[in-house]
Amino acid sequence: MPKDTLTITDNRTGKTYEVPIENGCIRTHALRQIKASDEDFGLMGYDPAFLNTANCRSAITYIDGDKGILEYRGYPIEQLAEKSSFLEVAYLLLNGELPTPKELEQFIHLVTHHTYVHENIKTFMDGFRYDAHPMSMLASTVAALSGFYPDAKNTKDEQSRRIQITRLIAKLPTIAAFSFRHSMGLPYIYPDNDLSYVANFLAMIRRIGTATYRVHPTLERALDLLFILHADHEQNCSTTSVRTVGSSEVDPYSAVSAGIGALYGPLHGGANEAVLRMLREIGHVSKIPDFIKAVKSGEGEKKLMGFGHRVYKSYDPRAKVIKRVADEVFEITGKNPLLDIALELERIALQDEYFVKRKLYPNVDFYSGLIYEAMGFPVEMFPVLFAIPRTVGWCAQWEEMVKDPEQKIARPRQIYTGSKRREYVPMDKRAAK
Ligand code: CMC
Repeated sequence: MPKDTLTITDNRTGKTYEVPIENGCIRTHALRQIKASDEDFGLMGYDPAFLNTANCRSAITYIDGDKGILEYRGYPIEQLAEKSSFLEVAYLLLNGELPTPKELEQFIHLVTHHTYVHENIKTFMDGFRYDAHPMSMLASTVAALSGFYPDAKNTKDEQSRRIQITRLIAKLPTIAAFSFRHSMGLPYIYPDNDLSYVANFLAMIRRIGTATYRVHPTLERALDLLFILHADHEQNCSTTSVRTVGSSEVDPYSAVSAGIGALYGPLHGGANEAVLRMLREIGHVSKIPDFIKAVKSGEGEKKLMGFGHRVYKSYDPRAKVIKRVADEVFEITGKNPLLDIALELERIALQDEYFVKRKLYPNVDFYSGLIYEAMGFPVEMFPVLFAIPRTVGWCAQWEEMVKDPEQKIARPRQIYTGSKRREYVPMDKRAAK
């Protein structure tokens, strides 16, 4: 009879153990009973970078990396991208179900009426140097929000959690726009609650000297769609950071700020910025073969930015949607001259044995930067444009973690590789190295 268990024989002792298998997993804690001697601590799993470790149960986002499938609460990303709006998707991610018209109306009203920030936030942001990266301004300012909302520490109180989540989703575009305006030396523009989530954000970025600035509907829809695509992506580096920091029961502003820090890195949300810098560095289609050669030889530790993914081993479904949106945006803005380099780079890479063998395909960041640039955003704003929608995913994942009775404070083990115990050496007895 087949059984949902794993039998392990410890060849050090000859003892056999039977461990339950549930959802294709064993609980690594079950290994602790496996000991070579009575003093032995027990067997642990060693998994740097969590390559094969599930850290939680989650009902939010499903990915099948081999088939290129991404679903939010069971709905395929392609359908949501085509038919939904960002705030509708935000409601879905946070509540598990698509909203009714009334529920959506109430949710939009709630988010729209929390867009303003305390005036002292402006003073706080003024403290940054003129050339501060907007992502570091965003991370710091979101962390500072915990000082403005001390009630946020009531993480066990559902009502309080919901208020903080609404505040985060509503205020992120305002803080993001303020960080942009600061770096441009322009006055901050207050939110306009008559506009949609995306149009309000774009207005706070663009408005100069007039209250009548109106966003082109194609660009509004394109950014809304990019926000949908970036809203969640299960247990990536930043979400894991939010969950880990949040597991100490700190307020969600501190936890989300940690997520923004993780997202800032070039291997994660900073990749779209790195893609643009890479395309500029290549400069011309004729230089692509040399660039690919340098990547393959590992020369200067070059990578093909915007390619590869820990989970997707086929075309990232988000990249497919983005490629289509790019055409619509370029019809309005004119074609980004770097697009030809990107298309040719993709064509060559998808035929090259190095990339084929390693299953390296374009990811979400490969084309998104081209759209952001065509819309007039400087590269420094690209990761910020990722952080705004991902805040929804972070909040949904944070709340799921808080409510999960199996979760505790995150605290991995280590394998100690340092010196054996030794006696303190007085200063005058230490030999020069
Ligand atoms: N260019 C060249 N080689 C690559 C690349 C790349 N972009 N990505 C992976 N490889 C190689 C890597 O060197 C390794 O080769 P080998 O087996 O010879 O040592 C092999 O492919 C496997 O890669 P890995 O580093 O073990 O894969 P990983 O799962 O640890 O890393 C990744 C995933 C996304 C960090 C990596 O693919 C990468 O650095 N890509 C470029 C940065 C990027 O585009 N990041 C955005 C990710 S999508 C948005 C998000 O979720 O944030």
